[in-house]
Amino acid sequence: MARNNFIVAIDGFSSCGKSTVAKALAKELNFVFVDSGAMYRAVTLYFLRNRIDLKNKFDILNALAEIHIDLIPSTTHTQILLNNEDVSDEIRQMEVSSNVSEVSTIKEVRQAMVAQQQRLGSHRNIVMDGRDIGTTVFPDADLKIFMTASPSVRAERRFAELTAKGEEVTMEEIQQNLSHRDHIDSTREESPLRQADDAIVLDNSELSQEEQLKFVLAQIEKIKSK
Ligand code: DC
Repeated sequence: MARNNFIVAIDGFSSCGKSTVAKALAKELNFVFVDSGAMYRAVTLYFLRNRIDLKNKFDILNALAEIHIDLIPSTTHTQILLNNEDVSDEIRQMEVSSNVSEVSTIKEVRQAMVAQQQRLGSHRNIVMDGRDIGTTVFPDADLKIFMTASPSVRAERRFAELTAKGEEVTMEEIQQNLSHRDHIDSTREESPLRQADDAIVLDNSELSQEEQLKFVLAQIEKIKSK
């Protein structure tokens, strides 16, 4: 593809396998992959470490001014630096997962993240996954995919991911965390998670990774042949 501004937006609930598809797609097409959730997680980690009061707008704005997030994008993963410290692993821990949705409801946080995401997407072929990529960050994205999967499949995936990293969690904790985050993500005032009108739904409960990739590649072929 000769273009240098082709944007694929992949949105959906937590643990629907968005990043897996997004990474595979970026690798296949040699696009840059950006995990926008990692940015909200890095902000959350900073707020937790510095005990920022989420009700205090002044503290939040001061904290945001102190936060510098760098994404070292590649076709396979995004390394994330918080003020030059590699926090790629720490942002996946349960404490961050339990607080990130609340932090993501804060308007000032979203404004700062969206601006940075839009900069990352200019003059680049990019695959970005998140919650509001097709609706707010890139409303004119070339392809919008909205991913879903059944709640039990999502919980099993998250459980496997965390236990593989040695975290001690129960299935119950995971289910609670997922449904709590779904609720906050889809009911918040600022750009809630919703399917963009022109998004294509991909329910991957029963699909292998190869099948999902094939599905998305087929959508891209359709766009290219128009
Ligand atoms: O994709 P994830 O589970 O790592 O995202 C973590 C949280 O960040 C998620 O609960 C909601 C928030 N998020 C968001 O509000 N907007 C995005 N574009 C990406 C993530």
